[in-house]
Amino acid sequence: MSKRTLGPCVTFFPQPTTIISSISLAGEVNLMTASWVGIVSKTPPTIAVSLNSGRKTYENILQTKEFAVNLVPASLAVEADYCGVRSGREEDKLKNTNLTLETPSQIAVPLVAESPLNVECRFIREIELGDYRLLLGEIAEIHALDSAFAESGDIDAKAFDPLVYLGGIRQYWDLGKKCANAYQDGLTLADKK
Ligand SMILES: Cc1cc2nc3c(=O)[nH]c(=O)nc-3n(C[C@H](O)[C@H](O)[C@H](O)COP(=O)(O)O)c2cc1C
Repeated sequence: MSKRTLGPCVTFFPQPTTIISSISLAGEVNLMTASWVGIVSKTPPTIAVSLNSGRKTYENILQTKEFAVNLVPASLAVEADYCGVRSGREEDKLKNTNLTLETPSQIAVPLVAESPLNVECRFIREIELGDYRLLLGEIAEIHALDSAFAESGDIDAKAFDPLVYLGGIRQYWDLGKKCANAYQDGLTLADKK
């Protein structure tokens, strides 16, 4: 496979597209798009989000110690992009997107109602990375789209329609098609004794 070097940069994909909801001490809700987001521990359930220290969202989280990570469906690509190019310091992103809020169960920060998967988080601690802060959040609750579940409990991933972000080339894609079963199909290569 012939390759070219890109140097030390942040071209890496796919990434999830999420909207982080947060509130200020005055109770104003802000929405911010974030793709540097991932689950980093199962026990305890923990999510990590990397935020530039200049973000209004970062300020809100440090003040209230809570935030929610809302998965963005492909149908909301334009709204998500807007929440990633304007700051809550200058604009009311909730009003300009027409997104609506849902009541959380464990924290005070509202969830994005149009998101099929909402993660309620309590801020644990941060790691300084130059201009960025890696924030660790304890997952307090997850809300998943009811209609994605079959009676058997199986989840239809397509129902979530997650918007995929391609970092470095700045494109949004949809999920595409399933190609294998995890923790299962790899076993076909395991040593047979
Ligand atoms: C697709 C996309 C992904 C982004 N991911 C991040 C991210 O992970 N961390 C970050 O600090 N900024 C990220 N941004 C930029 C912020 O969303 C943007 O600076 C936003 O205006 C900050 O809003 P706030 O000041 O209201 O918090 C992203 C923007 C886009 C369009």
